[in-house]
Amino acid sequence: MSATQKAQVFHSFGLNELKIEERPVPTPGSGELLIRMKAASLNYRDLLMVTGNYNPKLKMPMVPCSDGVGVIESVGQGCSMKEGVRVSPIFARTWHDGPPFREMLKRTHGGPLDGTLQQYMVVPEADVVQVPDHLSDEAAAALPCAGLTAWSALVERGPVRPGEKLLILGTGGVSIFALQFGKALGAELIVTSGSDDKLQRARDMGAHHLINYRSSPNWERDVYKLTGGQGVDHIVEVGGVGTLEKSIRSVKPGGSIYLIGVLAGKEAPLDLTPVLMQDIRIQGVVVGSRRAFENMNRAVDVHKMEPVVDRVFSFDESAKAFEYLKSGSHFGKICIKID
Ligand SMILES: NC(=O)c1ccc[n+]([C@@H]2O[C@H](COP(=O)([O-])OP(=O)(O)OC[C@H]3O[C@@H](n4cnc5c(N)ncnc54)[C@H](OP(=O)(O)O)[C@@H]3O)[C@@H](O)[C@H]2O)c1
Repeated sequence: MSATQKAQVFHSFGLNELKIEERPVPTPGSGELLIRMKAASLNYRDLLMVTGNYNPKLKMPMVPCSDGVGVIESVGQGCSMKEGVRVSPIFARTWHDGPPFREMLKRTHGGPLDGTLQQYMVVPEADVVQVPDHLSDEAAAALPCAGLTAWSALVERGPVRPGEKLLILGTGGVSIFALQFGKALGAELIVTSGSDDKLQRARDMGAHHLINYRSSPNWERDVYKLTGGQGVDHIVEVGGVGTLEKSIRSVKPGGSIYLIGVLAGKEAPLDLTPVLMQDIRIQGVVVGSRRAFENMNRAVDVHKMEPVVDRVFSFDESAKAFEYLKSGSHFGKICIKID
């Protein structure tokens, strides 16, 4: 009889549909690794995926989550990595270097490919990276999507230079990584949040200026004042059209807006005139390649950087972890321990 493992699986959309199932432990083929998963982390995308708001035509059953860390349990023929090495699958299989390409979007973990919320997974050796030794499994599991997206924006795309002004919207997974990388790059940091407590935590981590976007709904005016009417050099934009017009008013002529998320909506009237009149760069960012991931890991290792993990849930509590993400109460990342 073949060995079995536990996986979190959904057969139809909805957080209540996420259930533990027994599945066979897969066997690695040539060039593939069997990874014993240790931890996963949640991204907003995973919540959209499980609730049917990402791709209503998603093929099911599906194991959610793009991000995770595990230890190589066994290797297929021709692999050079060894058992016992700690690795993370990359977000989009086959995207190893260079710009993104259409086909890779069909090979992302957590939809349409099964994700990391299972005890074992088989991944091609070419589609994993080694993770920094100093990190716990949970902290390392925060890196593949949120960490890499912030890195890709600020370093691979930017780059943000010392002394430049960086505006970061919100205090979720991507945004807190942006705060950490922005600080390491020597930027002057402005952080917005809907919570004063979270703003205080951002200050403790090195943010120079804080804006509460709830008590200050016209926060672009605060940015204007804080920058002496000049605007910021870079913006980590996770709100989408709900915040983009304010971001356009907050960036200086010739500055960059990294369009990463759509938390505040996908459709709204938008005046784009300042974008062309002020030579503003609106740069879409999609996670990053394996090479970018390896670059980021080197920086995380050198600086012994610690991803901010808000809370760790057990594997059995995975649905609760998703509910917590949905509540928006978190600061940084939400992780799940897999054992
Ligand atoms: N393009 C990519 O490759 C990529 C990669 C990762 C994520 N994303 C996207 O980026 C977004 C953030 O992802 P995440 O995983 O970091 O999410 P997350 O951890 O759930 O972060 C959510 C946080 O965003 C802030 N927020 C929500 N609405 C806001 C608004 N109107 N204005 C300013 N801040 C707001 C809130 O911060 P406060 O509680 O402090 O107010 C909230 O806690 C999502 O849309 C996600 O799909 C895209």
